[in-house]
Amino acid sequence: MPHPLEQLREDALREIGDARGERALDAVRVRYLGRSGSVSAWGDQMKTLGKEERPVVGQLLNEVRNAVTSAIETRAQQFRSQMESDTVAKIDISLPATDRSGYSGYAGYATTPTGYSGYLPLERGSLHPLTQMLERSIQIFRQMGFALADGPDIEDEWHCFDALNTPPEHPARNEQDTFYLPDGHLLRTHTSTVQIRAMQAAPPPLRVIAPGACYRRDEIDATHSAQFHQIEGLYVDENVSVADLKGALEFFMRELFGPETAVRFLPDHFPFTEPSLQIHVKSKALKRGEQWIEVAGCGMVHPAVFEAVNKTRGDDAYNPEKWTGYAFGLGMDRLAMILFDIPDIRLFAQNDLRFLRQFA
Ligand code: PHE
Repeated sequence: MPHPLEQLREDALREIGDARGERALDAVRVRYLGRSGSVSAWGDQMKTLGKEERPVVGQLLNEVRNAVTSAIETRAQQFRSQMESDTVAKIDISLPATDRSGYSGYAGYATTPTGYSGYLPLERGSLHPLTQMLERSIQIFRQMGFALADGPDIEDEWHCFDALNTPPEHPARNEQDTFYLPDGHLLRTHTSTVQIRAMQAAPPPLRVIAPGACYRRDEIDATHSAQFHQIEGLYVDENVSVADLKGALEFFMRELFGPETAVRFLPDHFPFTEPSLQIHVKSKALKRGEQWIEVAGCGMVHPAVFEAVNKTRGDDAYNPEKWTGYAFGLGMDRLAMILFDIPDIRLFAQNDLRFLRQFA
């Protein structure tokens, strides 16, 4: 015959499983573990037991108490996570926002920079002009078959410079130009780091874009900011040529700025491309239409970049005899400034609603 304590454990576990909510569970807890609950009653009874029986029953009682306690804790945890997911499921994110008091006509009580204190009217949010620019650009490149790639903002020197054929004495690696972290990592100075990461991750052919933030220790003014944004592009295949590069970027610029946009390519120098070019655009549709504006750097991937990738891959996947590729880095802030006729790059980061509202 099972010991009555075993029967008690069985009953308790069943009742815990049957409890439909936190309150019912608490009633079970009180019934068994409360001061005058059945488990506690057994504790009192221990004194009345004989010397031989006492340690055996004592141990069993401990086991039962532990089993019941942990079953209650587990069940309570289930209720808590159920309640959380119920709460989340009930939120309709398409509804207009409410202020903290639940009233949906106002955004909340606040003091504005102009000195007004009171309830602010509720307003619909909208996408930041840079975000709009980024989304539009990604859409155009996806249309051309580019996939999205990604890499960290905090990089190592190898991905940012060495693998991109940029030697230690190159000025870009200077502490005056680059934010270094104490451990030797750095904030990436361009999105070209993702070229390397994408090639390490997959063999050719490859066609990716990588939008993201970059950081440089520039003197901050109307056209320079310590943080800015680029879209990197990389296309590696057999027989890729400068003609492919020009075709893709001209298409992109005309999609973005209109069919009458003129695009020109001028020679430039980057350690990781050869030849290297800069891209200028001019379009009557733009406010600054009559003037050529530099918007990107680009070029044909330097064989030394392929070799650096091969070395870490441990294979010859990017054999420069077989594969060629082009790469480009588009300045997103610059493009948005041209497209929306924004005179100062600092406006993007100042969070001034009078500015942001114009792009809603
Ligand atoms: N990474 C370069 C820059 O930030 C741009 C670039 C990208 C040039 C790819 C060539 C190829 O200025």
